[in-house]
Amino acid sequence: MNTHKIAVIAGDGIGPEVISEGVKVLNKMAELSRGTGDEFSFEFTEFPWGCTYYKETGRMMAEDGIETLKKYDAIYLGAVGMPGVPDHISLWDLLLVIRKSFDQYINLRPVKLLKGAPCPLKDVKPEEINMTFVRENTEGEYAGSGAWLYKGKPNEVVIQNGVFSRVGCERVIRYAFELARAEKKTLTSISKGNALNYSMVFWDSIFEEVGREYPDVKTYSYLVDAASMFMVKDPGRFQIVVTSNLFGDILTDLGAAISGGMGLAAGANLNPERTYPSMFEPIHGSAPDIAGQGKANPLASVWSAAQLLECFGHKAAADAVIASIENVLVDAKVLTPDLGGTATTAMVGDEVVKKLSDAAVESAVTKLKGLGLGPKFAKFSK
Ligand code: NAD
Ligand code: IPM
Ligand code: MN
Repeated sequence: MNTHKIAVIAGDGIGPEVISEGVKVLNKMAELSRGTGDEFSFEFTEFPWGCTYYKETGRMMAEDGIETLKKYDAIYLGAVGMPGVPDHISLWDLLLVIRKSFDQYINLRPVKLLKGAPCPLKDVKPEEINMTFVRENTEGEYAGSGAWLYKGKPNEVVIQNGVFSRVGCERVIRYAFELARAEKKTLTSISKGNALNYSMVFWDSIFEEVGREYPDVKTYSYLVDAASMFMVKDPGRFQIVVTSNLFGDILTDLGAAISGGMGLAAGANLNPERTYPSMFEPIHGSAPDIAGQGKANPLASVWSAAQLLECFGHKAAADAVIASIENVLVDAKVLTPDLGGTATTAMVGDEVVKKLSDAAVESAVTKLKGLGLGPKFAKFSK
């Protein structure tokens, strides 16, 4: 039996509400895995880190937090942020420090309109919204390099540097090419070389350079402003997309908006070499406006749990989870208010679990067993 040790950081606001539903689904999948030939189980360890912990201790996580997390196979995170605690402290001292310490340089975010999910775009066929964003996740505009000079004085100056290393750009771009090749899809790079005359000219040149090794992959290059327009007007243009940290952050919220909303947007922070644990989380925040009311949609967390399953090689189980999410959406009987329903967070989690037990999905689990790693999570070398 393959036992996966998962560190759970539910965090703040709606984090704990949505994460418990994801854990429910993972436990159900472990139960369903029995007898499939691909048996697995989970050992969850919860860490009470986040803004409440900060208010009590002055720290967002324990002092040896990173050392502690290193021992786990993966991290499952809810959300971080609370009114009253400055966001740049709460996020830098928990979420961002984990992404950087564990060199989770790939932020993989599906922008896919599932069957039954609402889409605000008219004249767009649902199958046209099916992208995978590969967002650079450790440097770029979020490298944390800069200075605050003459603070509080009339001549105050702030500098926020964008850091684009050759290694950093090359590895994320190469990952995206490998993924496009494996999935036989096109690859689009999104940058801004006309205005960012160092960083993005460099990015574009590395995209071209690496691309020469992948003549079989059809590529496109867009400026970020035009790309955001096309994501709304003609999303079918995009399949695999590679972009920098900031652009990826913004465009994947836009992606969420066209594919069912923040409650359906999942993400994986991957260290492809598996030197360190990877981290799985919904891309939304702690949503203080709805926290504690049972209104949060847990499907983004559940989807990121599916990414976790795929990362561990349980591709069939991951597919079964996505199929169940789709069944819940198509049924449209048990949905949270963001999707027009009246159900609570826990009711939606229970409904996913119920659908997982449906004979159809169960047989999918059996039929697809042992497919091994999907290309997104396979190791690659070079
Ligand atoms: P947010 O994603 O928390 O919320 C934006 C809007 O989307 C809100 O109206 C919220 O109610 C809605 N929403 C988000 N998730 C939802 C869900 N699962 N179901 C239904 N509705 C949902 O973004 P924000 O308001 O800009 O940020 C709130 C806090 O979260 C801030 O402190 C911010 O720094 C932090 N944040 C954390 C993360 C993270 O931990 N990964 C990500 C983004 C923002
Ligand atoms: C996300 C979030 C984070 C990011 C913030 C909270 C630091 O917006 O995961 O999209 O920008 O990476
Ligand atoms: Mn974001």
